[in-house]
Amino acid sequence: MKTVSVAIDGPAGAGKSTIARRLASQLGFRYVDTGAIYRTVAYFMDLWGVSPKDADGVNRYIDELTVGIEYDEDGLQHMIMNGMDVTGDIRTQDISQKASLISAHACVREMLLDMQRDLAKQYNVIMDGRDIGTVVLPKATVKIFLTASAEVRAKRRCEELLAKGQKAKYETVLKEIQQRDYQDTHREIAPLKMARDSIKVDTSEMNVDEVVAEILKIVQEKAGL
Ligand code: DC
Repeated sequence: MKTVSVAIDGPAGAGKSTIARRLASQLGFRYVDTGAIYRTVAYFMDLWGVSPKDADGVNRYIDELTVGIEYDEDGLQHMIMNGMDVTGDIRTQDISQKASLISAHACVREMLLDMQRDLAKQYNVIMDGRDIGTVVLPKATVKIFLTASAEVRAKRRCEELLAKGQKAKYETVLKEIQQRDYQDTHREIAPLKMARDSIKVDTSEMNVDEVVAEILKIVQEKAGL
């Protein structure tokens, strides 16, 4: 079966997961959140006390890790670390930063590549991340580069955290976002960058409904749905 794949790349906090989830549910596609896979690796290394910057340590421990992805009946993605569901544990600010650093190691990216490609071979997918259109699925049916100014992304992240009852200081969140942008765009392997054949959607001045409608139109045209 020939599958349809929609790659959505972009910086932290651009709204990729919210948009991708909505699109997947409207199109009946599977949503693959690749950031969660890197977060799982970061969480594992953290449990073993391995610094995400310690290349030797990461290399030594990576063979002890098996990462699984499962989907529940609502289509929600669950991350399985050595048989344990860690879906809820990987969503902290600390793991966000560590995942950004962990994802720079070649052994980590190599280990996860086939898993991502296999999902796109089996299912119609909306896959979001940093290198989906450039490395993971260079032949994706549609490539979107979702972005927004760092200030808008920080403001949205603060609102999200406050809504969850967590403390959030705008200046701190903005600094973390800028640091992650720097790390994700400056690493040697598969850095975040726009693929040449990607369509840029700047969401700074758009709400979620508008973004979903715009991308849906692009996908329907390109994939002939
Ligand atoms: O999308 P996210 O914030 O959950 O991703 C966490 C980190 O994982 C991100 O800062 C960089 C890394 N990542 C990556 O290198 N490649 C991807 N395809 C997805 C995420």
